[in-house]
Amino acid sequence: MGINIISMGSYLPEQVLTNEDFKKFVDTNDEWIRTRTGICSRHMAGWEPTWYMGKQSALKAIERAGIDPKEIGLVIVSTITSDFLTPSIASVIQYEVGAENAYAFDINAACSGFVYAVDTAERFLRTDENLKYVLVVATEALSRFTDFEDRGTCILFGDGSAAAVIERSDKMYSSFLASDGSGARKLFARNVQIASQVKVESDFDDGFPEKPMHQLYQDGKEVYKFAVKALPTAFRSAAEKIGITSEEIDRFVPHQANIRIIETAAKNLGIGTEKFIVTVDHHGNTSSASIPLALCEAIEKGDIKRGQKLALVGFGAGLTYGSIILEY
Ligand code: UT7
Repeated sequence: MGINIISMGSYLPEQVLTNEDFKKFVDTNDEWIRTRTGICSRHMAGWEPTWYMGKQSALKAIERAGIDPKEIGLVIVSTITSDFLTPSIASVIQYEVGAENAYAFDINAACSGFVYAVDTAERFLRTDENLKYVLVVATEALSRFTDFEDRGTCILFGDGSAAAVIERSDKMYSSFLASDGSGARKLFARNVQIASQVKVESDFDDGFPEKPMHQLYQDGKEVYKFAVKALPTAFRSAAEKIGITSEEIDRFVPHQANIRIIETAAKNLGIGTEKFIVTVDHHGNTSSASIPLALCEAIEKGDIKRGQKLALVGFGAGLTYGSIILEY
């Protein structure tokens, strides 16, 4: 079985920060940010709730699908920047969009989250014949968890949301999901303060760098090394299952973290960068929202057309990685 992406919608908060704006907070410059990351600007949510951005993109996707929200049987939201520990943002959005017959839950797989969420939707559609439509939303407000005194991370992140309405279909589909928790300390934000005098029977917490609660830490160099391997590995692992090659893929939609990661992956896969959808220049890194934001924008611009073979590839905190190959 596979899926059909019926429609997509996206939402970006109004406020835009350019590279120049960051000079007010940290010792940086436009040239460094552009050449090291490919980022020129990013959107900022301010105190706009994460769920609210998700609702806006979901409403657009539902309207474009032309369905009654009551026909949605499942709402899955991917986020690492929820407004709540509980309830899930999925439950909030399920109520707010009028999906009154849906069950709902959140997924946290960091920047791989949209890939995880879509693959989860495919599995639910495969096993629950009463399920007709799944609403998948990725919504992130990274700026709320960013240390604006850390020039190595604050310039990277942006906020936004994108959503898809999905149904089952017999179109080509393959997926691959992976996680390596030994890399947890390379990219994290703590939710509770760990008391150093409390000892548990595990050395897992040893070696975590100090960082205040609710602030993102990233070992950029280590995560970079992981990312340039994870992207081609994730693609190949899904591709091998259905015997498809990188040349046969029309469009790659990778997680938008750094243009250099995308260029290196293209080289590794033996294909040109023109097959890759790139939005990191004006979105920055929006974690799990980055793939669907790029996908939605490319569809709206006509860069992705019906019938094309797509590879969505995510990588991020966890460390997680994964890919989905599907026909649009
Ligand atoms: O979304 C989840 C997955 N995340 C990723 O895939 C991110 C992967 N990592 C990266 O993309 C890159 O490692 C970064 C863009 C985060 C950093 O690039 P880098 O080439 O690894 O730079 P660096 O951290 O090694 O820093 C190089 C130099 C340092 O100065 P010294 O020590 O060489 O004098 C930094 O202090 O650049 C300096 N630097 C900056 N300079 C100006 C770091 N940040 C900045 C800045 N402006 N914003």
